Amino acid sequence: MAFLDNPLRTGLRMGRTPEPCTMVIFGASGDLTRRKLVPALYNLARERRLPAGFSVVGFARRDWTDESFRELLCEAINTNSRSGPVDPELWASFAQGIYYHWGNFDDADAYRRLVERLAAIDRERGTGGNRVFYLATPPEAYPTIIAQLGTHGLARSSGWTRIIIEKPFGHDLTSAQALNAEVLSVFNEDQVYRIDHYLGKETVQNILIFRFANAIFEPIWHRSHIDHVQITVAETIGVEDRGGYYDTSGALRDMIQNHLMQLLCLVAMEPPSVYDADAVRDEKVKVLRAIRPIALHDTVRGQYGPGSANGRPVRGYREEKGVSPTSQTETYVALKLFIDNWRWAGVPFYLRSGKRLPRRVSEIAIQFKAAPTMIFADTPLNDLEPNVLAMKIQPDEGISLKFSSKVPGQPQIRPVTMDFRYGASFGVTSPEAYERLLLDCMLGDGTLFTRRDEVEASWTLLTPILRAWAEGPPLPFPNYEAGSWGPVEADEFIARDGRSWRRL
Ligand SMILES: NC(=O)c1ccc[n+]([C@@H]2O[C@H](COP(=O)([O-])OP(=O)(O)OC[C@H]3O[C@@H](n4cnc5c(N)ncnc54)[C@H](OP(=O)(O)O)[C@@H]3O)[C@@H](O)[C@H]2O)c1
Repeated sequence: MAFLDNPLRTGLRMGRTPEPCTMVIFGASGDLTRRKLVPALYNLARERRLPAGFSVVGFARRDWTDESFRELLCEAINTNSRSGPVDPELWASFAQGIYYHWGNFDDADAYRRLVERLAAIDRERGTGGNRVFYLATPPEAYPTIIAQLGTHGLARSSGWTRIIIEKPFGHDLTSAQALNAEVLSVFNEDQVYRIDHYLGKETVQNILIFRFANAIFEPIWHRSHIDHVQITVAETIGVEDRGGYYDTSGALRDMIQNHLMQLLCLVAMEPPSVYDADAVRDEKVKVLRAIRPIALHDTVRGQYGPGSANGRPVRGYREEKGVSPTSQTETYVALKLFIDNWRWAGVPFYLRSGKRLPRRVSEIAIQFKAAPTMIFADTPLNDLEPNVLAMKIQPDEGISLKFSSKVPGQPQIRPVTMDFRYGASFGVTSPEAYERLLLDCMLGDGTLFTRRDEVEASWTLLTPILRAWAEGPPLPFPNYEAGSWGPVEADEFIARDGRSWRRL
């Protein structure tokens, strides 16, 4: 018997292959390259999504050779790839296009040599002058590299040239504007791909499919039917070995400004007229601009103290490596905001994100209003919970709808859920976010990357909070135990509105 391919299993993965190109990774000896970028490129090669001749040039300052770099990357894939150990045959051909370029980011000679090297790769591997520069470096290095690329004529070529810039994109509005000015003095906006890997997650992309490819949800997706929205990104990990960086950043900058604001935009935006990069991003920017300035009393900060994680005792934030013992950096934030437009006027959006919480979970929950009249009032059936639509982004990716049902044989109503699980429905593991995003960049599709006005609108909203926190009195940190759901003030804060955080 012949079976047709299930388009839901394969169709979403099919698509265009980019033109031959070279990807130059600045910071090629770093953690991101090892854990995410190279495994993602390898998996794209496995799925035959990379063009013929695709090449990688790793730029870093260690005294490595092409050969030793290839060995390290092979190990990195063995350790970090979702597809398991490398396939020797595939690796042999993939590795032929990997090169190591030694140099310091501020060394002009290294860029002169890079120009020659890229030209040689174009000749040998037919990459046609098409280039992606990936800044996988500490953010302080971005301006130096961008300026050097400009000085050495690397922002233009005989083919196309694009630049991917990692987060954080600035640490407040002024620094984000300055970085935008630096980037745009060398590149055009359509060459710039500001990455927020959350947007590459399948479940995040599915928010738009869910909303705009199904006719039944849009009519109830507004203030008449929705009581409030909760967006949670909870981590069980602490700062690991990023203490030094994190202590200058904190949860508002590290999570809310980018990941949670992006989720908020996708949930709250109007349908774009077409699905293309500018139309989608125009609608997201409109959401950000419609958010009312956030009142300081609508924010709660926390910092974890000693406690436990996965049944093991763990130290408090202030005892982490690289963290000041008197640090005032927040590892938890909860806030409430309002979007002042016709769709959302009066509907509170509660956002929370923290480290060392009891579960790793990311979720958007739309809580609907209660039924307008209680025909079951004064009966044993009067205890109704509101409907909740939960979009689960990780780890159990899916969508669930909670509604009330009568308990068989008893005069009681109980909430039940209807669940859709990605894994069970499609039978494939989702590609890593970086796979999708690297491919999109090579294809010239900026839909899932952040535009200049978007990043600045987000900072415009959050910078006044950062400033007010910095100017305010120090808080009695730590104020929550590692392994708990954050400070008690966060529960009190939402309870004042007659609501509570979802138990996740
Ligand atoms: N790691 C992640 O999972 C992750 C996730 C999201 C975003 N990001 C962002 O990605 C960027 C990179 O993160 P990472 O964790 O990979 O950082 P990392 O491990 O510290 O790597 C930084 C890289 O830059 C190189 N480098 C630094 N200064 C240099 C210089 N003057 N000249 C030449 N090379 C230099 C380092 O070389 P040496 O090895 O010689 O020091 C290393 O290769 C950061 O902006 C981070 O915020 C990272």
